[in-house]
Amino acid sequence: MTKSSESPELVVVTGASTGMGAATARELARRGFHVLAGVRREADGKALLADGIEPVILDITNQSHIAALVARIDGDPRQRALRALVNNAGLPCAGPVEVVALDEWRRLFEVNVFGHVALTQALLPALVRSKGRIVNISSLNGKVSMAGYGAYASSKFALEAVSDALRNELAPHGVRVVVVEPGGVKTEMAGLGLTSLSRLSARMTPEQTTRYGALTQALPAHVAAFTEAGVTADIAARTIAKAATDRRPRTRYTIGAMTAFLIRAARFLPDRVLDRMTNSDLRKYYPAGSAVARPA
Ligand SMILES: NC(=O)c1ccc[n+]([C@@H]2O[C@H](COP(=O)([O-])OP(=O)(O)OC[C@H]3O[C@@H](n4cnc5c(N)ncnc54)[C@H](OP(=O)(O)O)[C@@H]3O)[C@@H](O)[C@H]2O)c1
Repeated sequence: MTKSSESPELVVVTGASTGMGAATARELARRGFHVLAGVRREADGKALLADGIEPVILDITNQSHIAALVARIDGDPRQRALRALVNNAGLPCAGPVEVVALDEWRRLFEVNVFGHVALTQALLPALVRSKGRIVNISSLNGKVSMAGYGAYASSKFALEAVSDALRNELAPHGVRVVVVEPGGVKTEMAGLGLTSLSRLSARMTPEQTTRYGALTQALPAHVAAFTEAGVTADIAARTIAKAATDRRPRTRYTIGAMTAFLIRAARFLPDRVLDRMTNSDLRKYYPAGSAVARPA
């Protein structure tokens, strides 16, 4: 993967206002790429200018934003190649499957799945021309689902499936598709997830509260502990940049030793053993004295 300061190649990073996206944009700029960083507000873009990054207004669910980005790349004044697309933007969602509103499921999939598909489709002609690379930011939850994480995990499982298909469709055309699977990373995401969780808890019916009250009370502490035990966005960004630039990339990169262990374990352990592991981890955060329903 060559680049020179005279003619730096282009990379696109989505969701670059905060967290891993901002850190990855900075890391790739440091490595000499011309980074087109997707943000949804101009103010977020301004914060990136000092690092030599070019912000682009990009809501990945907005077709005219996507078309403007395609035009920016195709009309690049120096005809630079698009080296990589980092599909990083994402929304969190915590709560029991029964309780997360269908509109919320749709909003989640619009961003975590369809937005990435839409942008990938639009940028593929440029990526095929340059034999470039797609890096999809999945999650530990792209491989392991558990109580309270069904909506988020299913969106990441879907992204993993899209990535496996794309990898095989594009290999003959010289485009590599790489998945990055972070565990906990200290970003804004946990806070956002908890805000939506408290809204959800407030509108549960009495019957749902009986079923899931202890779980929804446990989730904030579980999410917080998971995030707190995680790595910084800067550390995660180094792995993402490696996935985007390794000459012979692996198909998947994990972030965090525990994540690598759990993903491997999930492939070999029987479902019920994995269930016991994830449930006992959650149960540590249940309110004292709560009666936890055991599987029938
Ligand atoms: N943090 C973790 O522990 C963790 C673990 C595993 C995987 N991940 C994944 O890592 C990725 C980055 O997350 P993060 O932790 O860095 O979270 P973050 O700080 O909350 O960043 C999420 C980014 O996505 C953007 N975004 C949301 N909706 C968008 C849309 N419709 N179009 C374009 N951008 C949109 C946000 O922009 P606004 O500021 O405009 O909302 C923000 O820039 C996500 O895909 C997430 O699922 C995170």
